[in-house]
Amino acid sequence: MSAVKEKEFHYTEEDFQWVKQRIHEQVGINLNDSKREMVYSRLARRIRKLGYSSFSQYRSLLQRDNGELIEFVNAITTNVTSFFRENHHFEAMANTILPELMEKNKASKSIKIWSAGCSTGEEPYSIAMTLMENVSSDWKIKILATDLDTTVLEKGRQGIYPIANVEGIPKERLKKWFWRGKGNNQDKARVNPVLQKNIEFRQLNLMGEWGIRDTFDIIFCRNVVIYFTKDTQRTLFERYANQLAEGGYLFLGHSESLHGVSDKFKFLRQTMHQKI
Ligand SMILES: C[S@@+](CC[C@H](N)C(=O)[O-])C[C@H]1O[C@@H](n2cnc3c(N)ncnc32)[C@H](O)[C@@H]1O
Repeated sequence: MSAVKEKEFHYTEEDFQWVKQRIHEQVGINLNDSKREMVYSRLARRIRKLGYSSFSQYRSLLQRDNGELIEFVNAITTNVTSFFRENHHFEAMANTILPELMEKNKASKSIKIWSAGCSTGEEPYSIAMTLMENVSSDWKIKILATDLDTTVLEKGRQGIYPIANVEGIPKERLKKWFWRGKGNNQDKARVNPVLQKNIEFRQLNLMGEWGIRDTFDIIFCRNVVIYFTKDTQRTLFERYANQLAEGGYLFLGHSESLHGVSDKFKFLRQTMHQKI
């Protein structure tokens, strides 16, 4: 195989195809050919750090070291997220879905939400803020926040963000739910710890066993399945339907859809679906 391009590390088409296959097997992500350079630059960082000189050395390490497999997957996955991203989901929760759930669940006085593919935590914290702003304080709120990537989960658990990440949040909300750092931490904001009490961050591969007993009122799975094959999506949405309460909601990302992939849900509007 010839090298794709002159680079710091020898990188062939076979290396790319190997990575593509491993990532698909491990986490269901379907890397298309346009991701060849992205794969190079993300793994090159890792190879440099390990002091190796080629992709083939790195591949041998992956064959024998399961710990490195986690670093490998962390390096490839895309973790872009933000507070109140795709805000129409939070508006729909506040205006219609939460009032409806408070009627429906009044016997148990509890609401359970799963943020699947939560990345660095902005999504589950946005959910927590919306719940705490709209649900009576005597209700039990549980948010399960899961991701494959252990590094992003740790950031989520800490709940400390660069000030720039919270700048778009309206002043009143910002004041209520964030603490600005002092001294050397002036450029950081920490989430109000009351939000953290309701969130459990847990490592979970959507392709593996979930071991989740709860059923949820809403599942957020946004900007995660975009890289999955249709077959993988089909299986996943079937499993989500089983994990939702009757009439539960599934929110997807802006470029994701259930069209032709699942008939377990009815389409409501703007990437919002309800279990039939
Ligand atoms: C682009 S982020 C989306 C974050 C957030 N849901 C949002 O919309 O802002 C996608 C996340 O999905 C996670 N992910 C990808 N494949 C996964 C899998 N098989 N199991 C669990 N998480 C996965 C990635 O680690 C990444 O953090």
